[in-house]
Amino acid sequence: MIDTVFVLNGPNLNLLGTREPEIYGSATLADIEAMLQDKARELGLAIDFRQTNHEGVLVDWLHEARATGAKAVLLNAAAYTHTSIALLDAIKAIELPVIEVHLSDPATREPFRHISYVGMAAVAEVKGLGANGYAVALAKAAAF
Ligand code: DQA
Repeated sequence: MIDTVFVLNGPNLNLLGTREPEIYGSATLADIEAMLQDKARELGLAIDFRQTNHEGVLVDWLHEARATGAKAVLLNAAAYTHTSIALLDAIKAIELPVIEVHLSDPATREPFRHISYVGMAAVAEVKGLGANGYAVALAKAAAF
């Protein structure tokens, strides 16, 4: 059976393409999903690609990743990265490899973006590579 990687995107990422393109690039989330579907096929994986603006929904989807036997999770929790102890606890609870993904590099931006609760439990991070970072992260997930 083909392994599935959950790709979970948090708040405001539905606006990619028009949202601060000088920071996040011009690709839409649909463009990123299409690119990642191609990469997944290349790697012999399936992806389940989702976006929500709601913190609790991300928690529920992390639980679902474990319940359905996902191989790994790519998580761009967007602003919840920097605030959410609930996401940190969920990542610890599910005991699946979670890779933190960001289009920009939060470490080079405002100080409030320098803390990452997701990063406290993630097994790896890919940041500052724009949309291609998702493909890099998926290749890492394939190696688990
Ligand atoms: C982001 C970085 C976060 O700091 C920000 O809140 C986002 C997007 C990124 O992909 O670069 O919404 O996660």
